[in-house]
Amino acid sequence: MKKDIGIGLLGLGTVGSGVAEVLVTKADSLAEQAGLPLILRKVAERDVNKRRSARLGPDVLTSNPEEVLSHPEIDIVIELIGGEHPAKEYIERAIANGKHAVTANKEVIAKYGYELFSLAGEHNTDLRYEASVGSGIPLISSFQQELAANKISVIHAILNGTTNYILTRMAQEGLDFASTLKQAQELGYAEADPANDIEGRDTAYKLVILSNLAFRTKFVPQDVYCEGISNIAAQDFLYAGEFGYAIKLLAIAKRDDDEVEMRVHPVFIPRDSQLAKVDGVYNAIEVETDLAGKLVFYGEGAGSLRAASAIVADVLAIARNIYHGVNNVPEIRLNQRVTVKPMSEVKTRYYLRLDAPDRPGVLAQISKVLGDNAISISSVIQRESNLAAQTAVIVIMTYPAEEQGIQKALKQLKQLPVVSEVSNFIRVEG
Ligand code: NDP
Ligand code: HSE
Repeated sequence: MKKDIGIGLLGLGTVGSGVAEVLVTKADSLAEQAGLPLILRKVAERDVNKRRSARLGPDVLTSNPEEVLSHPEIDIVIELIGGEHPAKEYIERAIANGKHAVTANKEVIAKYGYELFSLAGEHNTDLRYEASVGSGIPLISSFQQELAANKISVIHAILNGTTNYILTRMAQEGLDFASTLKQAQELGYAEADPANDIEGRDTAYKLVILSNLAFRTKFVPQDVYCEGISNIAAQDFLYAGEFGYAIKLLAIAKRDDDEVEMRVHPVFIPRDSQLAKVDGVYNAIEVETDLAGKLVFYGEGAGSLRAASAIVADVLAIARNIYHGVNNVPEIRLNQRVTVKPMSEVKTRYYLRLDAPDRPGVLAQISKVLGDNAISISSVIQRESNLAAQTAVIVIMTYPAEEQGIQKALKQLKQLPVVSEVSNFIRVEG
């Protein structure tokens, strides 16, 4: 007869500290819900002498992960060190040692999820990852269970707290990129390597995880077209505003028959749309379904306790199963027909910002390049940028066109003698 459920934790950073705090401060209520006390037995951290907020007993902290992975009285291992390696190997070792695993690691789940689920299946253990997308927003369980009877056709989502925080503060307060990124890091939103947030990779991992559940497939991160926000300049917010748009980093998945397009990039979205009003660290996930209609999930997408909420819920679900002696390893039946639509065939509208000399005939040459590539212009703004040098900024909004056409046109525009610079180009959604 078990007298408690042993927990082991790998990583005591932003999220690990939150999880340790919740396991300690909510111990009574968690024990009541699980049927047995949840005991945090061992915590592995690279530097055990680092100052940290979580108060742990003297024997709990170790610098040796093996003390967690093979501890005979640990039933559930929580991986919160982040990154690809050795996180993946630690999860594998935990499972191979017969332990259940919980992780918030979107990179590992997006890249190796199926391999790990299958390993967990072989060892009759559970692997849960609710916090990996949207932190405390209940997405994984909703996609796995509550939406299971639906055919999901579209996902439009803001999935990264760091970039949404940066874009919001740049747009609303005119702050610069570097200082807002620093604030996002101080608030504990950013990844250990913030390039994963900025370049859109963190969002792409999350889109893979959601798409795999939504379309019952085995997508990998390379299936997602991915661009980050580092090219967005103050001027782009200005012109977006003039045209009635906000700029957001969106994750988009659209299913057409059995072909799915998946992309992550900055977009212009209408200022009065729901997603345009999602600010700061908030995430929002719009899902279009055949039965439940259009759903919107909304909440803070990063932060210590936001993630801890989902992680401890995963722990609790496993603990309840242990108490009742049942296993809950969800079987995923794949839809083998689904394929990825090449980005070159995706059709959207575009915003282009060019620098050019301010003289007659320039606009005509630019329009010709676009026209030759089957791109129609819907509106143009031309602003003098330097009176003495007689240069202008030309901003163009197009009608829907194929990505391969716009890419060809961009190459040709860059070579056009009358174009000094193609300063930015951003897709328009909605
Ligand atoms: P942190 O960088 O704050 O914490 C990771 C901790 O693990 C650090 O203390 C780090 O030590 C330690 N660590 C790293 N590698 C090892 C190792 N090999 N052995 C032992 N300890 C190690 O990251 P977060 O807490 O922010 O993120 C953890 C995970 O949660 C990531 O997968 C992240 O994507 C995910 N996540 C994060 C959210 C957030 O809001 N921050 C929200 C949802 C998910 P050191 O500092 O010395 O490197
Ligand atoms: N770095 C991530 C974000 C953490 O900013 O959204 C939450 O997954």
